[in-house]
Amino acid sequence: MIDIAVLISGGGTNLQALIDACARDDFPARIALVISNNPGVKGLERAEKAGIATTVINHRDFETREAFDDQLHEALNDCGAKLICLAGFMRILDARFVNRWRNRMINIHPSLLPSFKGLHTQERALEAGVCFSGCTVHFVNPELDDGPIITQAALAINPSETADELAARVLELEHIIYPQALRLVAEGRVRVVGNKVTISGAEYSDQKIINPVPE
Ligand code: GAR
Repeated sequence: MIDIAVLISGGGTNLQALIDACARDDFPARIALVISNNPGVKGLERAEKAGIATTVINHRDFETREAFDDQLHEALNDCGAKLICLAGFMRILDARFVNRWRNRMINIHPSLLPSFKGLHTQERALEAGVCFSGCTVHFVNPELDDGPIITQAALAINPSETADELAARVLELEHIIYPQALRLVAEGRVRVVGNKVTISGAEYSDQKIINPVPE
């Protein structure tokens, strides 16, 4: 059993997926602390409802990014977390912090990385005319939305759907792969080798999807 901390900035539907997973008897992780950089967000309510300790570390209260990150680091050490899950945490962390937690911090991003790093991923996917979107769980590197990929999920895009509709469909996949990736990491099955991971005992899909569907 590994103690984790989840960092959020908002609604926390991914946090909820992790809370629900951790509630299962056979799940190898426990959430020791939820930290939000924004006060009053729904994610904090979700944690409190589940009886999980929460704290707000508001970045606006700090003069520098380093001072904010130091406070985060202290809170994470105090709660005994061995792994950080970023779940819609919308602050860039400085390289010093990321290096302290290298290979011990994972993130979920709503695109098939390395495509569409940053914000507004589904709008940009639709604008680019790509036929697939998806989401990625990866270890965090100092570069934005970068680092060894653990799991990905893909879906076919219908060009007539809106970015919000697409984002909602991707979010459903996020809620499946984040707990899956956390389980793999918590079970000690994920090894980082260079900029890639190897996962012991993982079964890989050989599924092919063509979009638009051939007539
Ligand atoms: C999710 O779609 C997550 O992938 C994204 O923010 C959303 C948070 O939703 N994260 C990023 O874009 C990080 N680069 P949630 O608060 O409901 O989990």
